[in-house]
Amino acid sequence: MEIQLWRNILSPYELAVREITLKFNHMMREHREKDLYCPIEQVTGRVKSISSILEKMQRKQIPMERLEQEIEDIAGIRIICQFEEDIDVVASIIQKRTDMEIKSEKDYLTHMKESGYRSYHLIIYYTVETLDGPKRLQAEIQIRTLAMNFWATIEHSLQYKYKGNMPPHVAERLSKAADAIISLDHEMSSVRNEIMDAQNSSQMQTNLVANILSNIENLYKYSSKQEIMKIQEEFFRVYKTNDLQQLERFHRQLDIISEGYRAQAVTYDYIGD
Ligand code: GTP
Ligand code: MG
Repeated sequence: MEIQLWRNILSPYELAVREITLKFNHMMREHREKDLYCPIEQVTGRVKSISSILEKMQRKQIPMERLEQEIEDIAGIRIICQFEEDIDVVASIIQKRTDMEIKSEKDYLTHMKESGYRSYHLIIYYTVETLDGPKRLQAEIQIRTLAMNFWATIEHSLQYKYKGNMPPHVAERLSKAADAIISLDHEMSSVRNEIMDAQNSSQMQTNLVANILSNIENLYKYSSKQEIMKIQEEFFRVYKTNDLQQLERFHRQLDIISEGYRAQAVTYDYIGD
């Protein structure tokens, strides 16, 4: 086929890869701006090379006219996560999107391939706008952890080197390395929980301090300067302990004091009217 015809076929896929990676990159930015933990570490994309497309057509006996239906990974997106738990989160984010429709899924996480390959694959339908109007095409999204990506990258270069004739001792090493990747990801998952906990309690502390300060501010209306100074000093003392439970207790006590004043104020207001 002429090179110009290939360009025509591949051009919408180029657009799709650019758009989809841009959208995921923007999603990462949104998480950062909102101080939220981001389940995506990195996004890359590529359009399959003409030679890989030809090789796959030959290998799978795909005729030219069925090329776009049968080769689902002309557009390929790879999403790298820090932790295994993030993979599900990313998959369900994709599921909820209105611009990506999931055609099929392959779970090589619970069903590791014989090679030792692990990843979560989605084939999606995605629509791009072209001069000829909208074009709905397919794209493959691979979701995997940093550790899984490390393994897949090394294994891929070895496959390339040995061209399908991987010596058994190399395959065995790779299989052992795949087991090591599984335990590495599990170890990392326990760290993830700690990160989440730390993030949660720091958010809780921020909210508590904001509530306490606005409570103290309100007290200025009702209570004596002397009492407020006392409360403030107590707040600084509790704050310096860095103990979330003490801070919570102080917050509850302050709430009770404020409630008391508010009740009085309401009664006075009522009598006054
Ligand atoms: P191809 O493998 O691309 O011919 O398509 P398929 O229909 O067999 O799909 P499959 O899910 O097996 O693979 C899709 C993609 O996942 C591949 O193109 C690779 O990028 C990746 N992949 C699958 N198996 C392996 C593996 O054993 N090692 C590595 N490194 N990557 C793999
Ligand atoms: Mg395959």
